[in-house]
Amino acid sequence: MVKASAPGKCILFGEHAVVYGQPAVACSINQRMVVELEEEHKFESWRLDGGILNFSKHPHIRFLKDQLWPDGEHSPLKIRIRGTVPTASGLGSSAALSVALVAALQQLKKEKVSAEAAGLLSHQAEAFAQGGKASPIDTTTSALGGFIVLSDKVEEALDHIGERTLQQGDETTTWQLHSFQAEIPEDTFLVIGNTGVHGSTSKQVAKVAKLLAEHPERYVEIEAIGSIARKGIEALRTGNMKLVGKAMTENHIVLRSLGVSSPDLEKLIKAAAPSSLGVKLTGSGGGGCMIALTKNPEQTVGAIEMEGGRAFISPFNSPGVRIETLSSQDDSVQ
Ligand code: MEV
Repeated sequence: MVKASAPGKCILFGEHAVVYGQPAVACSINQRMVVELEEEHKFESWRLDGGILNFSKHPHIRFLKDQLWPDGEHSPLKIRIRGTVPTASGLGSSAALSVALVAALQQLKKEKVSAEAAGLLSHQAEAFAQGGKASPIDTTTSALGGFIVLSDKVEEALDHIGERTLQQGDETTTWQLHSFQAEIPEDTFLVIGNTGVHGSTSKQVAKVAKLLAEHPERYVEIEAIGSIARKGIEALRTGNMKLVGKAMTENHIVLRSLGVSSPDLEKLIKAAAPSSLGVKLTGSGGGGCMIALTKNPEQTVGAIEMEGGRAFISPFNSPGVRIETLSSQDDSVQ
């Protein structure tokens, strides 16, 4: 049996504006997806969590199987998935699952398991599963862990770690990937509050696209998010948590004005604000999760829960994909 895990992510700055080329910053969270794989020669079909695996319902698994065994059938595998990343909530559960699955499959094939390769292949799997559209921010953050910046150009102040290209019909999109070291004091945490309402990324992205098509003058808001993200990156690098928080709240105000917040998100954000340095929605909005940067994590969790949200504390710098062994539970992937 082999076992691998990978973290979820949250977007600190730049969601939606990244679709128009502005920088976005994500960081790994401590909630993880875990995949266990076992070869089952006595079975005729692949199994998922006890049932027969229907590949049409799990296109990313089919994609990975075809990539890793292009010559045809492999003896069926038994896959078990568990994890603590809430699904359809903007925390990258699907990407974390793909990343962990790639690492587990590579381990099973006795290939070198690398976070870089897991990031690349899982992005292709996600794009395949989503009909050709997926930015690499979730898969890269989940594979490598830490802080990741995606931009349409090389950001000079950051460590440039690579480039991803995706063919979407006639269109080729290229993203520049970066990492950086954030100086986060030990007493500062992220609290993630989940509205429990599933937002649809494609609907929210389409809503912003319609607004911009009808009111091109509102591109200034997209540019404003880009400058806030750059300010936020600088504050993270220099450890100025007050400024990070301020930039997060400013980012939220622009997202709200673009129409991607929701009454449920606003309720949790309002509750978390008094005990936090900064608050914002994270991901595509319309539901899903909000995040708070706080030195009073228990108080912030309590405030969110009082308003009916589910909340958890996530320290920063959760490790990226790793192979888990039953003995050590912690073999980080190089
Ligand atoms: C969703 O997590 C982030 C968005 O910016 C969409 C995208 O980047 O593809 C809303």
